[in-house]
Amino acid sequence: MSGRHILITGASGGIGAALARHYARPGVALVLVARHAGRLGAVAEACRERGAQVSALTLDVRESEALADLIARFDAERPIDTVIANAGVESSLGREGQAELLSDALAQIRTNFEGAVATVLPLLDPMRARGAGRVVLVASLAGRMPLPDQPTYSATKAGLIAFGEALRPVLAARGVSLTVACPGFVATGMSRDYGGWRPLEWSAERAAAAIAAAADRGARGIAFPWPLVALVGLGRCVPARLREWVLRLFFVADIRRGAPSTRVGGMVRVEGESVHR
Ligand SMILES: NC(=O)c1ccc[n+]([C@@H]2O[C@H](COP(=O)([O-])OP(=O)(O)OC[C@H]3O[C@@H](n4cnc5c(N)ncnc54)[C@H](OP(=O)(O)O)[C@@H]3O)[C@@H](O)[C@H]2O)c1
Repeated sequence: MSGRHILITGASGGIGAALARHYARPGVALVLVARHAGRLGAVAEACRERGAQVSALTLDVRESEALADLIARFDAERPIDTVIANAGVESSLGREGQAELLSDALAQIRTNFEGAVATVLPLLDPMRARGAGRVVLVASLAGRMPLPDQPTYSATKAGLIAFGEALRPVLAARGVSLTVACPGFVATGMSRDYGGWRPLEWSAERAAAAIAAAADRGARGIAFPWPLVALVGLGRCVPARLREWVLRLFFVADIRRGAPSTRVGGMVRVEGESVHR
């Protein structure tokens, strides 16, 4: 661990903050990125108390070109050995199945996909040149099994999985590992906003420890919890008609009944633009 330089986006709360605390110790330098200075500052302080050196960057990952430039400059000053593209937002359909607002959909595409690409891209060639490095993309099981009430979110995560799988062989040939993390439900602000059924939810600390362990051993991927992973795998093998019937049963039951739903509340957690329906 010692002597490491680790960059984590979405580090002001949830899984990202838990990852930051997990890695924080003497000899480790952390670059933490998020939009909310207060929350990010508190995480940075907790990491410093554990002995880490911390740079807290109050940045929106949707400012992708500025983000990429800054990350390249950090890397030039001191090589980053692990980059974790974790920042993400989600929204759902409206209470009666109405489509997401375009602004919600774009916020997810730009944060979850564009932001993640801009986070890792500037580091790929420098890591390949050094013959070492760890790249981590925090996707979701929703990328493997798209959720009917979260079409854009699921698509951004599926895109991230494809991006990682495409990159992995080229990076591996030069000693750089790429780990795609596919969590199920994790108890964070995002998960609470979802408001619906969250089977087998893990704590943020447990999720962070699992993701960090997978990254540190250079694993191709990590997905949890295993019963949901198994269900998702099984779901991919059955006829689409059956899969859709089961998904409808679990995720759009309220829409079918036309009843107000607690399962599908639309919200994107972006300050000043949050939308509740
Ligand atoms: N929780 C789950 O059940 C679950 C399941 C599967 C996958 N995931 C994925 O895990 C990752 C972390 O989610 P979480 O559950 O920890 O959610 P969270 O508690 O809401 O944390 C999201 C983090 O992303 C940051 N963020 C959001 N938009 C940003 C932007 N435009 N620029 C910079 N930072 C931004 C937030 O900080 P600011 O608000 O301060 O910017 C926050 O630190 C996400 O990619 C999510 O999709 C979560």
